[in-house]
Amino acid sequence: MQLDLTKWYRTLAPRTTVLVSTVDKKGNTNAAPFSFVMPVSINPSVIAIAMVSTRHTLANIREMGDFVVNIPGEKILSQLWTCGKPLPKGVSEIKEAGLTEEKAKKVSSPRIKEAIAWYECKLRAEIEGGDHLVILGDIIIAESNDQEENKPLLHIGGADFCLPGKVLKSE
Ligand SMILES: Cc1cc2nc3c(=O)[nH]c(=O)nc-3n(C[C@H](O)[C@H](O)[C@H](O)COP(=O)(O)O)c2cc1C
Repeated sequence: MQLDLTKWYRTLAPRTTVLVSTVDKKGNTNAAPFSFVMPVSINPSVIAIAMVSTRHTLANIREMGDFVVNIPGEKILSQLWTCGKPLPKGVSEIKEAGLTEEKAKKVSSPRIKEAIAWYECKLRAEIEGGDHLVILGDIIIAESNDQEENKPLLHIGGADFCLPGKVLKSE
């Protein structure tokens, strides 16, 4: 079966979904979900996230040079969905969604307390990637809340998400 070239990526699912939190020069915070995400280097630790050029997240990353990748668990699915809604620049999705901002350790962007893991990142590079821009971030701190039952949310498509389930071993 031939796949529609505007929909092929839907077969590359479920995808890890993260909440990227940022701040602008005036101190306005922001958060948005992203599922075009991948690790690209271990040492140094580098993560890649593909963003449409109009995202407020991207503008804040360019302005401040940093961002936090928050890994959401099941408990904050509805808040993640709220963060994906278009709000005017300067209005914080973190506050609108009822999530809690926490000061990060090494970057100006805030962390989201309710996440299950956090990567504090400094902007390394920006690469043209078609209709998305690929942001490369150096992870300078990575932490998790250490609770095994907290599995990361995966995005299937549209409003559908799942959690990691059956473990298979290759032998
Ligand atoms: C589950 C999910 C995954 C998303 N993944 C991406 C993505 O990888 N890249 C992107 O540019 N937008 C993605 N979006 C859309 C943005 O999150 C959405 O446009 C958001 O309002 C952008 O907020 P901002 O303008 O404050 O950055 C995704 C939305 C959802 C709900």
